[in-house]
Amino acid sequence: MDINLEFTTEVETKTNELYKRIQNSIPKIEWPTLAPYIYEINQLKKDKGVTILAHNYQSPEIYYGVADIVGDSLGLAIEGEKVKTDKILMCGVHFMAETAKIMSPEKKVVLPNFSAGCSLAESITAEDVRKLKKDNPGIPVVTYVNTSADVKAETDICCTSANAVKIIESLKVKKVIFLPDVYLAKYVATKTNVEIISWNGKCEVHEQFTDSEIFELRKKYPSLKVISHPECPPDVIKASDFTGSTGSMIDYVKKTDAKDIFLVTECSMSDNIQIENPDINFVKPCNLCPHMKKITLKNILQSIKEEKNFIEIDDKIVSKARGAIEKMIVVGR
Ligand code: 13P
Ligand code: SF4
Repeated sequence: MDINLEFTTEVETKTNELYKRIQNSIPKIEWPTLAPYIYEINQLKKDKGVTILAHNYQSPEIYYGVADIVGDSLGLAIEGEKVKTDKILMCGVHFMAETAKIMSPEKKVVLPNFSAGCSLAESITAEDVRKLKKDNPGIPVVTYVNTSADVKAETDICCTSANAVKIIESLKVKKVIFLPDVYLAKYVATKTNVEIISWNGKCEVHEQFTDSEIFELRKKYPSLKVISHPECPPDVIKASDFTGSTGSMIDYVKKTDAKDIFLVTECSMSDNIQIENPDINFVKPCNLCPHMKKITLKNILQSIKEEKNFIEIDDKIVSKARGAIEKMIVVGR
């Protein structure tokens, strides 16, 4: 099937409302290069029965332009399971597409670029978890969803940044193994009396933030509200007004009357929230996730059109990992 990627009058007319909505994030000069992809993806996804899920870190042209469902990791895991079409396309990173496949093994799950990884997921292997369990017999393993399917299959229960404390407390034990994010582990330790055995994984995006940049920004914007993700280092969290998952950041912004906000997280979060909250000044700098940015309109269109880039996971791994995610959804939604 040939695809016409010209900025025709039809494409311009059909994408005009969308452009008006996101125009403050996308320069007018770029629109003729993006709109034809958006138009084609939206046509093709209907013809081929594809539902597009997008994480909150996806760029506005994906988040507002082609996604059917957007959310944080927990929201995508819950909503992904309810999708009615036979195919799901994940605009996110590899572990998110794997989670969708684990929850809907009968569906075809597409990840437009398989090299969209995650430094946390890459920090630990299933063999590492087996060794930790051997060294700490009887201690339950709680695993952040930012891990591979193989690692999830070795664990008792998963969690996301939205429900980590709730999940740990639900186990009613004195000690847990909590993997793999050392900063999320430190954050959780400030909220519970459960003793935590952690791993030294870090998010390459959030570990770059420092408290000194927050102090400098507070001098410039005296009423600044600082909202950080729990993958940030402890000093950054200490210097923040609120800490939470990407979904809770959005909820916080909806409720606040703050005029200047620093979202200490991935850059596209500010771009996406800005569109819904034009009167708020979202203070930069932010950091880009190089993995999230590997998903583009071009590779989304190619994957749908050429019916490729399907996630495959061994059946045994699917059923073991599914148990850990299902427990999380029951306890931690
Ligand atoms: P959330 O679960 O808060 O969406 O975060 C996912 C993630 O990858 C953060 O870096
Ligand atoms: Fe992984 Fe960090 Fe990127 Fe989130 S922002 S996907 S934790 S590397």
